[in-house]
Amino acid sequence: VFPEVCEYTGITLTRYMCEIARANPGLNDLETLISSIQTACKTINSLVTRAHITGIVGYADGGGSINVQGEEQKTLDVLTNDVLKRALRFTGKMGVIASEEEEAPVDVLEDEGVGQYSDEAGDAIIDEAGRYTAVFDPLDGSSNVDAGIPTGTIFGIFDMSAAECVLPEVQEGCDDLYSPAVEDDCEGAVSEECMAATLQPGSSLVASGYCLYSSSTFFALTLGAGVQIFTLDPHIGEFVPTHPNVAVPQRGAIYSLNEANRKAWDAPLRTYIEDLQDGNGESGERYTARYIGSMVGDVHRTLLYGGIFGYPADSKNANGKLRLLYEAAPMAFLVEQAGGLALTGKTRIMDLVPQSVHQRVPVLLGSPDDVREMRKYYDAFT
Ligand code: AHG
Ligand code: MN
Ligand code: MN
Ligand code: MN
Repeated sequence: VFPEVCEYTGITLTRYMCEIARANPGLNDLETLISSIQTACKTINSLVTRAHITGIVGYADGGGSINVQGEEQKTLDVLTNDVLKRALRFTGKMGVIASEEEEAPVDVLEDEGVGQYSDEAGDAIIDEAGRYTAVFDPLDGSSNVDAGIPTGTIFGIFDMSAAECVLPEVQEGCDDLYSPAVEDDCEGAVSEECMAATLQPGSSLVASGYCLYSSSTFFALTLGAGVQIFTLDPHIGEFVPTHPNVAVPQRGAIYSLNEANRKAWDAPLRTYIEDLQDGNGESGERYTARYIGSMVGDVHRTLLYGGIFGYPADSKNANGKLRLLYEAAPMAFLVEQAGGLALTGKTRIMDLVPQSVHQRVPVLLGSPDDVREMRKYYDAFT
């Protein structure tokens, strides 16, 4: 039972979630989680907006801090990751957290990296695992952040958790500790329960969303009954409903991919994009290109204007670039809930069960007519 957002126009995301929890008592803990995530996003918005004033730009530790992705971490990658971990940790509702910026899933009880409350009250909050697992990309598009190009935060919530993750005596010599298929001597380096709670398909998400730090700060959310987008009103410091019950246009006239990779795409995709450019697609319109290199910004525009966004497989990267667990699946949930489609090219992203935390997956998502048209090129070529 989800009250219609339009009844609450002018009220806030906080009030909307309060109404949902009142109408669905089983969602009280989820309300607490979304509240902590929105607070974290407000904090991140402030960090990103004021980064050049406070000097938190550039690379972490002056450069050379490489994350598990092999990317050089930005200062803001690290800071935003801590902001989200802290916010989630002290709700007392969290069990496991998986992040782009964490090599392995962390359980909120063990992770010493987050500021510890010294007094009893603080410890009491986190002396037991909560029921939810959160997966997130704390700062998406971070290569853009020093130039002030829009960035975002992506999150997904699963209603399944684990009491602990990395076992105390982590075995030496384990090169890939964090996937079930590790060698025998690494078995148990991360508890199976923790991996089971983390490696869940998009179809098991109970909530997902993003925060877009742009000309406005938008908070998009789905709980499985449509997509609501809220806008941060700086006058009151709250997110207010501005795009109730988002419906992606049936078809758009925009394609959004990094064409620098064009020569590495497969023939069906190259032909599809050429046909769009020449007005030889189903609509007969010549499409235009829009691509900012921040998934959150490109997906947000696709949700509102329609068209197709993608980071497809190519001859250099068979699985593309985007990560299944905390980028593709949460975004696929939102796009499907808005009436769109989200495929790897041929198969539904929400059906894929991750084999490892940072597994990459090809992504093509957006308006249903556009994604279906793209799909036909693969049938024609096989
Ligand atoms: P992140 O900054 O979280 O690592 O993600 C960046 C991703 C995604 O935001 C964007 O769609 C894609 O990288 C852009 O990649 P290219 O610069 O290779 O096009
Ligand atoms: Mn990154
Ligand atoms: Mn990202
Ligand atoms: Mn990121």
